[in-house]
Amino acid sequence: MKQRMVVISNRLPIVVSQDDHGEWQINPGSGGLVTAMTPVMKANQGVWVGWPGCDEDAPIGRLLDTFAEKEGYSLAAVPLSEEEVEKYYFGFSNETLWPLFHDMLGNCHFNRDHFEAYKKVNRKFAERTAEVSLPDDFIWVHDYQLAMTGWNLRQLGQWQRLAFFLHIPFPETDLFRRLPWKNELLLSLLAYDLIGFQTLRDHRNFVRCATSLVPGVKIVSRHRNYTILRHGERTFRAGHFPISIDFEDFSARAKTKEVADAAWYLHENFEERQIILGIDRLDYTKGIPERFLAFERALEKYPEMEGKVSLLQVVVPSRTMVPDYMDLKAYLEQLAGHINGRFSMHSWVPLRFHYRSLDPVQLLAHYRSAEIALITPLRDGMNLVAKEYCACSVDNLGVLILSEFAGAVDQLGKHALLVNPYDVETTADTIFKAFIMPEGERRRRMTLLRSQIKRFDVHQWTKSFISKLK
Ligand code: UDP
Ligand code: G6P
Repeated sequence: MKQRMVVISNRLPIVVSQDDHGEWQINPGSGGLVTAMTPVMKANQGVWVGWPGCDEDAPIGRLLDTFAEKEGYSLAAVPLSEEEVEKYYFGFSNETLWPLFHDMLGNCHFNRDHFEAYKKVNRKFAERTAEVSLPDDFIWVHDYQLAMTGWNLRQLGQWQRLAFFLHIPFPETDLFRRLPWKNELLLSLLAYDLIGFQTLRDHRNFVRCATSLVPGVKIVSRHRNYTILRHGERTFRAGHFPISIDFEDFSARAKTKEVADAAWYLHENFEERQIILGIDRLDYTKGIPERFLAFERALEKYPEMEGKVSLLQVVVPSRTMVPDYMDLKAYLEQLAGHINGRFSMHSWVPLRFHYRSLDPVQLLAHYRSAEIALITPLRDGMNLVAKEYCACSVDNLGVLILSEFAGAVDQLGKHALLVNPYDVETTADTIFKAFIMPEGERRRRMTLLRSQIKRFDVHQWTKSFISKLK
């Protein structure tokens, strides 16, 4: 019999809301973690433990049952108080760990009270997990918000196989050392049997941190994509397992008539122009201002692009209570206004900036209709948008421009056009190179990108991860 999987993540893969008539609704959530884990859970029929992300007055039990019936797996809610959300989620998770792990020390706030709330909430997740898990389950904790949950599960006497996957980068030792509570956090990670990272760089950074900062941690042996380590009597593994998407699902949905029609309508609004697409959560790690500046420079440097290309930037609202996120929105609006003011002509708006999320059909239509994807994070664990764009480029004609600092570069770097987003001049040249790329070269590159993503899809990722626990 297949082993049941219990997945724990900060957020459940849902958005709970109320419509205009006051009726409660439950819809799938967004973000890379949800995109990757949803097909895994559907195949496994396990339990997903997480925060429902809604007010306490929502009839959460009924809503979760409805969802579970439809999706084929169960959800277990961990409700959080307003204070917990403020200190654990907005505070320690997103104003300390998120920027620190993305190499952005300048955005970090270190607050003892927030760290205490983080520990308390990690314990709360462990308690809820202990209630719903069985002795033979495989327990899989996800991402930086819950790094200490595994250690708490051990404290609660849970001895199932326990794994952790970090969806975001892991920093170098010198940066990690800045965290005032580095030892506590690192020690709690050692409670897992397997710790997974996105890239070799992250895996190596972790091994170096653990062996240099925690006395007694030793490397037992090194293997192709994992390392066996010892701490006291225990051995555990750390490895790199680049996450992916359900390629067949994206590709098949992109070919449907509904998506093809929506893509056609979308492109009609751009007449004969090439669409350069950016899709990101509103996040300072995504390099959106740098992208706008490179686009502006390309328009300035290559007048042949005038009127023939538009940058369509969709920005999904995210972590709206964190001041750095609010500031970024205002800055992007200002930059977009400046660029459009400078270059717009009768019937041509060079930059369209949309602050909203897209429904699945619209998302795929955007991918399908864009001639170029411009993905320029300053640092990113993986970037699934890059993989989704290729999966949906079903006529093989899309060009992917990708930052060197996205985890996805390890798989896609050979056939994408690579850029350093801090280098505005070269990024502008690369935009022009994509704009004039002949059809034959587009086709050759995109065919290779698609076959790479197809071969290492999310199901392959799960298999490869779980096999390291055996
Ligand atoms: N996404 C979404 N709704 C949108 C736009 C994007 O659900 O309106 C999804 C997108 O399909 C992708 C995820 O959000 O799976 C973003 O993942 P990525 O790894 O690129 O970045 P993250 O947001 O996780 O940092
Ligand atoms: C990234 C993180 C996820 C997170 C997602 C959306 O993908 O790695 O853990 O769920 O962003 O962010 P949010 O703060 O809205 O959950």
